[in-house]
Amino acid sequence: MAPRYQIPGSRPGPRPGPRLLPSNLTPTPQIIILDAGGQYCHLEARKVRELGVYAEVRASEIPASEIALAKGIIISGGPSSVYDPGSPTVDPAIFAHGQPVLGICYGQQLMAHLLGGQVRKGEKGEYGLATLHLDATADPMFAGLAGPQQIWMSHRDLVGALPPGFSVVGRTDTCPVAAIAAPQRKLYGLQFHPEVVHTTRGKEYLAHFVFNVCGCQTDWDPRHRVPLLEQEIRECVRNRGVFFFVSGGVDSTVAFALSTRALGPDRVRGVYVDTGLMREGETDFVRRMPGVSVENAAAQFLSALAGVVDPEQKRHIIGEEFVRVQERIVESRHLLDEQWILGQGTIYPDTIESGGTAKAAVIKTHHNRVAGIRKLIECGRIVEPLKSFYKDEVRDIGRELGLPAELLDRHPFPGPGLAIRCLGSEFDAPVRATAEGFIIPVNSVGVQGDSRSYAPVLAIDSLDHARATALINRLTGVNRVVAPVAAHAPLAGLQVRACSLTSRRLARLRCADAIVRRLSHESGYDRRIWQFPVVLIPLGTAAAPDSIVLRPVDSIDGMTAQSVLMPADLLDRISAELLALEGIAAVFYDLTHKPPGTIEWE
Ligand code: XMP
Repeated sequence: MAPRYQIPGSRPGPRPGPRLLPSNLTPTPQIIILDAGGQYCHLEARKVRELGVYAEVRASEIPASEIALAKGIIISGGPSSVYDPGSPTVDPAIFAHGQPVLGICYGQQLMAHLLGGQVRKGEKGEYGLATLHLDATADPMFAGLAGPQQIWMSHRDLVGALPPGFSVVGRTDTCPVAAIAAPQRKLYGLQFHPEVVHTTRGKEYLAHFVFNVCGCQTDWDPRHRVPLLEQEIRECVRNRGVFFFVSGGVDSTVAFALSTRALGPDRVRGVYVDTGLMREGETDFVRRMPGVSVENAAAQFLSALAGVVDPEQKRHIIGEEFVRVQERIVESRHLLDEQWILGQGTIYPDTIESGGTAKAAVIKTHHNRVAGIRKLIECGRIVEPLKSFYKDEVRDIGRELGLPAELLDRHPFPGPGLAIRCLGSEFDAPVRATAEGFIIPVNSVGVQGDSRSYAPVLAIDSLDHARATALINRLTGVNRVVAPVAAHAPLAGLQVRACSLTSRRLARLRCADAIVRRLSHESGYDRRIWQFPVVLIPLGTAAAPDSIVLRPVDSIDGMTAQSVLMPADLLDRISAELLALEGIAAVFYDLTHKPPGTIEWE
């Protein structure tokens, strides 16, 4: 029998003694990141925290008076142009009182614009790697960083004329104003992104700003916060108990384990809903967590999904069934009684609404829609011990708690589970030969423009990302390109057939997913990528009606992603095992980056 986790539930922390700490245990942020709409603003906050300095994100327009206590401000990048109507701006008063400010990308342009400089369209865009030439200077922001170096750029607009008091410190061949400084006022700008790994000395730029310019002291290590978090949980829960709906994912499990350690196992309950849409071994994995009971609802979910092909309808049905199951659990276990409060694994990015921070944003997953749970949230009967932390920090806390690496290093897995990786079709249809390859008439989702769109898939004959990207850009009506890597029959002989989600097809997908997980784990490949969806599509022959698509991607946060190749020998092993499965005609490799494809196929 598999061992039970050493979840710290068996070892409750010390009972609360005299209060030594203020009730708000989260430190005052030393650095504030003003969110100018860029997906990188959270990455900037995370990178500052990695330096050991507590940073938080705020809406860009926040009044200067509300962030006057911060030792420094970073204005993030963003997709807008400073001249766009309604583009993000900041309170100009932040520049007036000697508080250090660093503008990154759009942040640099906005600072220049607001202080009397000019921003213009560059002759061409600059996306990706570039070489920065940084001047030698004694300025504490740039000292010791002079010389040519690799940076990462993503811009078309650039600063055309400097505001008074600023000088240029660095440039690239395309961008004459890549780093600027007004040292007397402690104002700095970088057109490049120091927060991404491709900027080789990026961390040093952030460290120089945080320590040399702002004078921050280190005050942040998520691992050291465990005793404080336990105390916070005890203060919030008081003499009541706390219950969680655990998903088996990192956040809810760490929150559950922390609460168990803070309160002792008798006062913490976890319920895991087995939807029948989970991966192989998942329910057993969760069952090993002490204090967690499993609610088997597989039959309920499968019968509600019978015959359904439309992806959004599938998601909707799964959400509705979840609500039903949870209502049942809340009622049958009397969880609305005064002696219980709700625990949730909400993490910091979940609490940020598009313009600022707001508690309301925690209502993001379907289980939070249950009326009873909403009532608990409204009357404050909720504890969210991880709400100040990023995912990496949650993992650090989990390690500190002694949770197993196999849990903490798991890839993200979507709430609707294998249902959205088991594609159906309304019609029978053959594949169609074109000049570029074969059109597979299976609808998969992509993000072109701002909205999700469904379109068929193009299969080309080689694992060539550049060609795939060029074709997607050129062809209308295709948002995803794959290449076959193994097959029992020629592609021209395969056919899409009408079918939906059945327990047989789910079992087939579950086996395929388990093979891919095992082999990529044994080879260490899973540690090199961000997520590895395995998708079942209804393309095959009468004897073998389905095919598998491999979708390994690299990503920072799932918002954008790169399709990545895997070592050839691993791919050979994976495809050979998959092809040996009952019902599988072919194995494909998804070559589509996000955008324009999404990570998942539905
Ligand atoms: P996409 O497919 O939108 O996925 O590029 C981005 C990330 O989100 C996950 N994902 C979901 N997670 N419920 C979830 O909990 C969903 O309906 C869902 N759809 C996508 C996906 O796995 C990836 O990590």
